[in-house]
Amino acid sequence: MSNVAPIALAELRDLRLAFGEKEILSDLNLQVPSKARLVVLGQSGSGKSTLLRLILGILKPTSGDVFFKGHNVTRMPRRRLNRIRQKIGMVYQYSALISSLSVRDNLALPLEELTRKTRKEIDQLVDEKLTLVGMAEARDKMPSELSGGMRKRIGLARGIIMDPELILYDEPTAGLDPVISSVIDDLIISLSEKIGATSIIVTHEMESAFKIGTHMAMLYKGKIIAEDTPEHFKNTDDPVVSQFISGNTQGPILEDTPLL
Ligand SMILES: Nc1ncnc2c1ncn2[C@@H]1O[C@H](COP(=O)(O)OP(=O)(O)O)[C@@H](O)[C@H]1O
Ligand SMILES: [Mg+2]
Repeated sequence: MSNVAPIALAELRDLRLAFGEKEILSDLNLQVPSKARLVVLGQSGSGKSTLLRLILGILKPTSGDVFFKGHNVTRMPRRRLNRIRQKIGMVYQYSALISSLSVRDNLALPLEELTRKTRKEIDQLVDEKLTLVGMAEARDKMPSELSGGMRKRIGLARGIIMDPELILYDEPTAGLDPVISSVIDDLIISLSEKIGATSIIVTHEMESAFKIGTHMAMLYKGKIIAEDTPEHFKNTDDPVVSQFISGNTQGPILEDTPLL
C-alpha cells in the first residue's frame, strides 16, 4: 500500500514550440494521468495537432521537455525513441490509410516493419484488432471500397495494432455524421477499456468531449489554461473555458481572435 500519487503516463513540461518566428506553444504544461481518457479542447489552429506530434516525438520542442513513462523523450537517441514510439498509437484525423493497400496490408505494415512476427502471427493480430472495431469482414477490402465511418474504424484498428499504452486521437469524429460520430465515440471508450490504454483525444466537438473524457484540458493562446474533471469544466468560472464549451458568441475568445 502506498500513498504516492500515480505517476503520469506522459507529461509536457515548460514546453515551447516555434515555427520560425511564429510561436505556437509557450509555457505549456500538461499531465496525462495513467489510464485516463484526456480530452484536449482548443480552437482550430490553436496547436492541438502540433501538441500530439510533440508527444509522438515526430516534432521536437524549441525548448522544454516531453516525458513518457518517466523517460525524457526530447533528449533520447533515435533508436531508443523509436522503441518508445511503438508504445504510442496514433489515429489521424483523416484515417490516413494507404490507398494502394488492402485493409489487411494497411494494418500489417507496422508489424512487418517493426517486429519479427510470422505471417500467421500477423494475420492473427490483424483479425483480432479488426474484430475489436467490428470490421472483421472488411479484411480484404481496399480503402476506396469503404465509407468514411468504416475507414475511421480501420484507422482505429491500425492505431492499436502494436498494442500501444498511449493512443492519440486527432479529431476522431471530424467530418462524420452525428450517428457515426456517436458510434466512434463509443468505440474509443470501449477500446480504452478493453486494452487498458491511456488516451488523449483532441477535439472541438463538445458532445464527444463530455461523452468520452475522464479528464479535460483546454489549449488557448499556446498554453493549457485549465486541466480538470469534466464536471469542473461544466461548472467553470473561467470565461474562456465556459465560452468554448457553451459555444457562446459573446466572450473573450472572439475578442482575442483576429478576424482574417
Ligand atoms: N510544420 C509547420 N510549419 C509552420 N507552421 C505550422 C506547421 N504546422 C502547424 N503550423 C501552424 O501552427 C498552428 C497550429 O496548427 P495545428 O497544430 O495544426 O492546429 P490545430 O490542430 O489546433 O487546428 C497553425 O497556425 C499552423 O498554421
Ligand atoms: Mg489539427
